[in-house]
Amino acid sequence: MNWRNIAKISEDVYWIGARDWNRRLFDALIPLPNGTTYNAYLVIGNNKKALIDTVNPGFEKEFEEKIKNVTDPSEIDYVVMNHAEPDHAGSIPYIMAMNNKAKLVATSKGAKMAQTFYKVPENRIIAVKDQETIDLGGKTLRFIEAPMLHWPETMFTYLPENKILFPCDFFGSHVANGLYDDEIEDLLVYAQRYFGEIMMPFRIMGQKAMEKIKGLQIEMIAPSHGPIHRNTERILNAYRKWVNGETKQKAIIVYATMWNSTEKMIQPIADTLTSEGIEIAMYNLTFADIGNIAKDLVDSRAIVLGAPTVLGGMHPLGVYATYLVKALRPPLKFGVVLSSYGWGGGTIKHVQEILGQTRLEVVGAMEINGPPSESNIEQITEIGKILAKKIKEET
Ligand code: FEO
Repeated sequence: MNWRNIAKISEDVYWIGARDWNRRLFDALIPLPNGTTYNAYLVIGNNKKALIDTVNPGFEKEFEEKIKNVTDPSEIDYVVMNHAEPDHAGSIPYIMAMNNKAKLVATSKGAKMAQTFYKVPENRIIAVKDQETIDLGGKTLRFIEAPMLHWPETMFTYLPENKILFPCDFFGSHVANGLYDDEIEDLLVYAQRYFGEIMMPFRIMGQKAMEKIKGLQIEMIAPSHGPIHRNTERILNAYRKWVNGETKQKAIIVYATMWNSTEKMIQPIADTLTSEGIEIAMYNLTFADIGNIAKDLVDSRAIVLGAPTVLGGMHPLGVYATYLVKALRPPLKFGVVLSSYGWGGGTIKHVQEILGQTRLEVVGAMEINGPPSESNIEQITEIGKILAKKIKEET
C-alpha cells in the first residue's frame, strides 16, 4: 500500500485524505507556500464503518477511489463532520449521494450548518452532544465539543481503543508533504504559523479544549491539515504555551516605508533591541508573507509598527498590519509606533483609531517630518532601551 495514496495509521484506521500541493491561498488571505492536506480518516469497526471528515471540493473522485481501497462506499454507516468549513465538509454532498444509508454526525450547530451549506436532509443527520458516543463494534467514537476552534460548531472525535484524537483544524499545519510529524523538519514552525493564522484569536476556547482532553490517553493526534502527530507531547506542549499566550523576550517589527525615512527610524530600534539581547523578527510589509507575521505574533511580547503618513492617514500597508494585529488578538504586551510624514502627520492617531481599546502598553510613539535627525535617532534609541527593559521585566 502506497502511503501517498492511502495509509493504515493504526489498527483498522486509515488516512484517506488529499494532498493539495498547488494551493497557495486560504480564505483569500493566508499564503500557503507549502500547500496543504485535507486529511480524512476511515475507521472500520466490527459492525459499522465511519468516515471522519471529508476533503476539499475538487478532490471528490480521488477521495472516492481512496475509500474504495479500504471498503465499499455503500458500507459507510457514519460520516463524522467535526467542522463544517468546506475544506473538510465540502465533499459531504458527494459522499451522501454515493451512499443512501450513511448518517452525518455533527454537533447541533453543525447539524444546522450541514442542512444550510450542504443540503443534507434532517433525517440523515445525528446531532451529538458533548461526550456522546457511537459504537462501531470494537471501536468507539466519542465526540468532544470544542466550539470556536475555529467555527461555532467545531468538535473533536476521540477513538479510545486506538488512543487517537481527531481534532480537525486544531493541532494542524499547512504543509502538503509527509504523513507523520517526524517526517517534517521544522514541523513546529509550520504549526506555529498555522496557530497564529487560525487559532490565535480563539486562545481562550483553545485553553478550554486543552483542559477537556487533558485526561485522555492520546498516542496519536490526527488533525485535518498537515502531518499526524506521533510525538503527541511535542505538539501538546507547544499548544499549552500558545493557548496560554506565553511570550518570549521577543519583539516583532513590521513596517512600511516609501522614501526610507520610516525605515531609518526602524533600524535604530531594531539595533537597540538586538544589542539589549531581545530576539527580533522584522518584516518590511511590502514583501512580507503575512503567515510569517502571524507566526511571530504568537510568541512576541512587543510590536514595533512603522508606517509613513500618506494621503492624510497611515500608509495602507500599515493599516492592514494594524488591523491584522487587532483581528488576530496576539498576546502582545507592549507597542511602539514610529512614523515619518512629508507635510502632515496622522499615523499615530490612525493606529489608535484602529486598535481602539487595547491592553497594549504604548511605550513610545513618534511622528517626525522627513528623515530622522541625529536627535531623533537618539530618542528612538532611548525608546528601544525602555522597550527592552519592559520586555525583560515582564514574565
Ligand atoms: Fe481547515 Fe476551518 O477548515
